[in-house]
Amino acid sequence: MFADRSILITGASAGLGAALAQALAAQGARLTLMARRADRLQEVVEACQEVGGKAQAVVGDVTQPEDGVRLTQVALEAYGAIDGLIANAGLSMWARFDEVEDVSVFRRLMEVNYLGAVHCLHPAMPHLKKSRGMFVAISSIQGRIGVPHHTGYVASKHALQGLCDALRMEVADDGVAVLSVLLHWLRGTELREHAFGADGEAMGTSRRKHSSESIGLDEACVQILGAMDRREREIVLPWKLKALLGVNVLRPQWAEALVRRAVGKQSRD
Ligand SMILES: NC(=O)c1ccc[n+]([C@@H]2O[C@H](COP(=O)([O-])OP(=O)(O)OC[C@H]3O[C@@H](n4cnc5c(N)ncnc54)[C@H](OP(=O)(O)O)[C@@H]3O)[C@@H](O)[C@H]2O)c1
Repeated sequence: MFADRSILITGASAGLGAALAQALAAQGARLTLMARRADRLQEVVEACQEVGGKAQAVVGDVTQPEDGVRLTQVALEAYGAIDGLIANAGLSMWARFDEVEDVSVFRRLMEVNYLGAVHCLHPAMPHLKKSRGMFVAISSIQGRIGVPHHTGYVASKHALQGLCDALRMEVADDGVAVLSVLLHWLRGTELREHAFGADGEAMGTSRRKHSSESIGLDEACVQILGAMDRREREIVLPWKLKALLGVNVLRPQWAEALVRRAVGKQSRD
């Protein structure tokens, strides 16, 4: 499906970004991978090459517009085209709004989760138009519904979702597809470890259990690559959460009760 496709992935040094890189590499894609941790990114590059793909690293920070420009430049220099951008780099939080001690947490979440995608997409867009390619936003179910203890994260993912919904109409006639991936909890990533706590510091290793609804990285990759191949506009993982989105439209107070119960259970675990 993706042999020889030139694809950019942000946040590729760990978690879902690293897993997507390896899944695409196994199909022979040509990858340009960005993250801040050079050593971890290099390990992913080597893992991609081992399974038969081409991969190169761009050590950079998505909050810096010039690093977004560099991502596009490096991909073009090596591969001559850009067929896809997966905006995956992300950061989370776990704290009540009124317990957050440093409001810069909210700016930081917006800078990584929303502006980070804009910084990488804007320079890539002319090349996505040339290839009639695809923008994939790794969003969250929290891009459509609110979740307690995540106010800043929810706001940043709603912003990303709004970008996708407006952009999709703008670029449809240029043949560029826009896919938003609405994920529930994933197992096997470092999102919680790096999430901001109330003091603005990373939470570190937590004993909090994952919800029984969480999905594994392999399954997430199969579903996301399938949706990319079909050029879908949005996927919800796991798909049964679509029902929650439906309830949220028709009876938002019922959806809120379900979400509060689920988050309350996780907080007690
Ligand atoms: N895990 C879940 O349950 C879950 C649920 C819904 C949605 N998601 C979304 O899935 C995406 C991937 O998250 P994950 O769970 O795989 O988390 P993860 O394991 O913590 O990986 C996050 C990645 O983002 C990179 N990153 C963070 N800040 C960055 C920055 N300023 N510039 C460049 N790269 C940066 C990290 O690399 P460096 O630290 O090396 O820069 C890392 O590679 C995120 O957008 C997240 O919101 C995750």
